[in-house]
Formats: sequence, C-alpha cells, structure tokens
Amino acid sequence: MSYSRISGTGSYLPEKVLTNQYMEQIVDTSDAWIRERTGIEERRMAAEGETTSDLAVNAALKALEAAGLQASDIDMVVVGTTTPDKVFPSTACIVQDKLGMRPGTIAFDLAAVCSGFMYGLSVADKFIRSGSVRRALVIGAETLTRLINWKDRGTCIIFGDGAGAVVLESSDEPGVYATHLHADGGHVELLHTPWGPSQGYENLIDDAGKAVMRGNEVFKVAVRRLGQAVEEVLESSGFTQSDVDWLIPHQANIRIIQATAKKLELPMDQVVVTVQKHGNTSAASVPLALDEAVRDGRVQRGQLLLLEAFGGGFTWGSALIRY
Ligand code: ACO
Repeated sequence: MSYSRISGTGSYLPEKVLTNQYMEQIVDTSDAWIRERTGIEERRMAAEGETTSDLAVNAALKALEAAGLQASDIDMVVVGTTTPDKVFPSTACIVQDKLGMRPGTIAFDLAAVCSGFMYGLSVADKFIRSGSVRRALVIGAETLTRLINWKDRGTCIIFGDGAGAVVLESSDEPGVYATHLHADGGHVELLHTPWGPSQGYENLIDDAGKAVMRGNEVFKVAVRRLGQAVEEVLESSGFTQSDVDWLIPHQANIRIIQATAKKLELPMDQVVVTVQKHGNTSAASVPLALDEAVRDGRVQRGQLLLLEAFGGGFTWGSALIRY
C-alpha cells in the first residue's frame, strides 16, 4: 500500500497589514465588534502588482526547502485559488514556470473557494497513491482583498491575502490516512460574486464582480457541515477524537473554530488558531496555519493532524494526516 506524506510545509504573507483600527476608518465598524464576532485583529493585503502566483511561489519555495527538494524534483503542482492571476492560463502554469519546474509536469488550478487546499490535497493524494506521480506541490494561494467591496462591512473586515504550500511525497508509511470532499451547489446566493466572465464584460456593472455573503446563514451551515466532516474522517480511518493531536481548521471565524473543537471535545490549546493575525485567507488558510504550527514547533513529526475547511459553493472537506 502506497501513501502520500507531507515532507515539507511553507507559507507566505504579504507585508502590508490592515488592522481593525484601519477598518474603523473605512466602514461603520469597531475593533470590539470585529474581535467579538470573528476573532480577527488584523489581515494582510498584497502590494499593488503582487499577484496570487507571487504569493504561491514564495510559499512553495519554503515548502521545497523544508522538504530538502528542488522544484525540478516535483511532478505536479496544484493551486487552490479563487483569485487567479488571469482567467487563463491557470495560476498553476504560471507557478510551474516561475519555480522552474520541469516542462511537461502536471499543473492545474482547483476552484473550491475556501476548501481549495483541501480539494487539492485530496486530489494530489490520489495521484500519488495511484502511482501516477511521486511528488506533488499542493498550494492554497489567494489575493481575496481584490474581490472585496470596501463599502461592505459584512465582508471587508473578514478577508485577507496569503499563501500556504505542502510538498506531498509517496511513502510506504502514512501519511494521509483519509480525505473527504463534499459540495452542495444549492446555496450559491449565500456566498458568491454575482458577476463572472461568462456573463460578459459588457454586463459588469459597479461591484458585481466583488464577493457578497449572507454571513449569518453561511455561519450556520459551516458549523453543521464541519461537525459532520470531522466525524466522518475519524470514522473512516478508524481513529477517535482522543487520538487527534492537533485540529488545523479553516480560519474563517473563531466562533466556527470553537464549535468544531467542541464537537471533537478538543481543548483550544490543541487547535491551531491564526485567524486573529491572518483573517480569512480562503484556500490559503489551512496550509498557512499548518506551516505556522510546524515552524513554531507545536506540530511534531508523528503527530495526528485533523484538517478541515468550508467555503463558497458550498464546498467542504477534511483530512486526517500522520505528520
Ligand atoms: N461591524 C459592525 N456591525 C456589523 C458588521 C461589522 N463589520 N458586519 C455586520 N454588522 C452588523 C449587521 O449589519 C447586523 O446589524 P443589524 O442587526 O442592525 O441588521 C449585525 O451586525 C449582526 O449581523 P450578522 O450578520 O448576524 O452578524 P454575525 O454575528 O453573523 O457575524 C460574520 C457576521 C462575522 C460575517 C459571521 O456571520 C461569519 O463569520 N459568517 C461565516 C463566514 C464564513 O465562514 N464564510 C465561509 C468561508 S468564506 C469563503 O468561502 C470565500
């Protein structure tokens, strides 16, 4: 039985910090409200001209270094993103070139909004288990602030930019025990951009290309689906809640994270929380949190990690990994 295992992690945050105090100046909100309802204190914003592929490449280089590999060793790159550099080609193709990967290797983007990294991880795991590739780079990278309507206080306070990456390699030992992916396209209106390219650029009016969200309704579905996702991945891989060393959740809202930890009966000191510093970086949030906990020494080799994410679509997914 061949598995995939994480041999290196990396992440990157753009330099510019947008504090809650800055948000108070641009919309009718308060630091106290944002902290209480979301847990967010600040988020990052990509510099002018800095694109998703730039963030992705920076995160990927750190993951390669941590794995002791060169870009030329990688057989496949998957980028989970909702904010590609261009409509086409894919951001993964741009990343492949910028990294100097071998021409001919597999490169594609995955659009699953905040679950993009979980989708990428699951797909790459299957490519490796089937023997199609030996080494894959899985990246979650976003410049979500580009999709923000800065007049909408319900969304502008939440999102931030960043990238996280892992190198997945084939291994005789686990590794990834199980991944589960789900989607329910019946709630598109709750979290979406009303306009997209196939509606025609001549029909792009005002802020129709920017994200809109009915946050309260999204919140309820997220809590329910994430509760199911963490139970499912434990059950399918034969582990129990008490086996989990770390929950590494999607960083959308501290209250959603706390609800999932409660479901797992896991104390918050076994939960990696970065939402206060990163905001919601969509597909980047889980690999960013993972890399932070690896680099500060919390996550150790041999520990059992439960990863989960929920996002627009709706999409959601979970993974159980021996690090
Ligand atoms: N500052 C002050 N007041 C605000 C703000 C703000 N930034 N935003 C909204 N409010 C107001 C609302 O207008 C409303 O006022 P009203 O009662 O007078 O109408 C009140 O606060 C309550 O609004 P709710 O939307 O019910 O607030 P809630 O407690 O649900 O918090 C939030 C809003 C933070 C958006 C929360 O619902 C949330 O985190 N939702 C889930 C987000 C998520 O997980 N998204 C999925 C991933 S994202 C992706 O896939 C791209």
